[in-house]
Amino acid sequence: MELRIDPWGQETIKEYEKLFEYFGIRPFKEVLPLIDKPHYYMTRGVIFGHRDFDKFWRLYKDNKKVAILTGLMPSGKFHMGHKMVIDQLVYYQNLGIDVYVVIADAEAYAVRKIPRKEVIEIGINEYVANAIALGLDPKKTVFYFQTNQDPRYYRLIQMISRKITLNELEAIYGELEPSKIISVLTQVIDVTFLTHKQFGGYECILVPVGADQDPHLRLARDVAERFSELGLKPPASTYHRFMTGLDGGKMSSSRPESAIFLTDSIKEAKHKVFKALTGGRATAEEQRRLGGQPEKCTVFELYAYHLIQNDNELKKLYDSCKLGSMLCGECKRRAAELLIKWLKDHQEKLAKAREIAKSLQLEPDF
Ligand code: TRP
Ligand code: SF4
Repeated sequence: MELRIDPWGQETIKEYEKLFEYFGIRPFKEVLPLIDKPHYYMTRGVIFGHRDFDKFWRLYKDNKKVAILTGLMPSGKFHMGHKMVIDQLVYYQNLGIDVYVVIADAEAYAVRKIPRKEVIEIGINEYVANAIALGLDPKKTVFYFQTNQDPRYYRLIQMISRKITLNELEAIYGELEPSKIISVLTQVIDVTFLTHKQFGGYECILVPVGADQDPHLRLARDVAERFSELGLKPPASTYHRFMTGLDGGKMSSSRPESAIFLTDSIKEAKHKVFKALTGGRATAEEQRRLGGQPEKCTVFELYAYHLIQNDNELKKLYDSCKLGSMLCGECKRRAAELLIKWLKDHQEKLAKAREIAKSLQLEPDF
């Protein structure tokens, strides 16, 4: 059977293990022992896979010039799934590693067909601002819009087009219209241009992304090999699981009930938690007898990905669910409480961060 990942699709990836066998993504577990103080996404298996992380880490440990780069498409409001990407950047920035964030405005405009003005506004006010409020240091982070780069960045995009065939693109993505081809080539340069000597000549770039972005990384690695004469080096990458939407589907800005947005009001957030799909049983009696199923529960995911950082505390919650000693009503009340506290605090930071984001003057002029 042919297995394809569609980075623009609405499908959510269900069987992460298949990605190991089929695409050669390596289990993150195997590099975990290299890291002194791993992020809880790493120890909890939220970051489940990688390519060449070991190589990146060795270079970092040897004080070589390395950086982290990732990108976000400004296609709607910023939600808890996006937060996962920024959390990882903050972790690496705190280790002293250079951090770059690309706002994929060209992609949002071309592929998602969002009006240009809206894309730019969302890029600054939602994405850059939330990233700053989540702890990225605006003085140490390089943010850029895909349409507002150095001319040499576009030169690289033009040059790599020579060594990529339509057949190879279609083998990876299926049928592609020009807007997607250009988005793909742009992203290939996003993850490689920093290794060019004109842009700092980094020895290795690590790209932390959701698993749906792997097709771009596979292509970028091939293209970098082919263009080694240009001095481009293949990126390393890590892959995290997606948050499940609160309704059980993909978490997506286009379905507001599937996601908690970082700008949700207290009332909205509470409502969403109370309506969320759980791993609870049909009746209270049954749940006391059989226990709940946290592994199938979107509320448990909220705890594990965002609300509880202490492992012992999370284990306790897991056990009381499994044992049936805590029922979903109480569990949701606790989750809502923690979430609301966090949202209030975040939204206070966000007001200030929006001003900073604006003052960075990142936006293209049209
Ligand atoms: N395609 C990514 C998305 O859909 C955005 C993106 C553009 C990106 N350039 C990137 C992600 C470089 C990682 C690295 O969100
Ligand atoms: Fe989910 Fe909590 Fe219910 Fe368990 S008790 S299924 S973790 S909501």
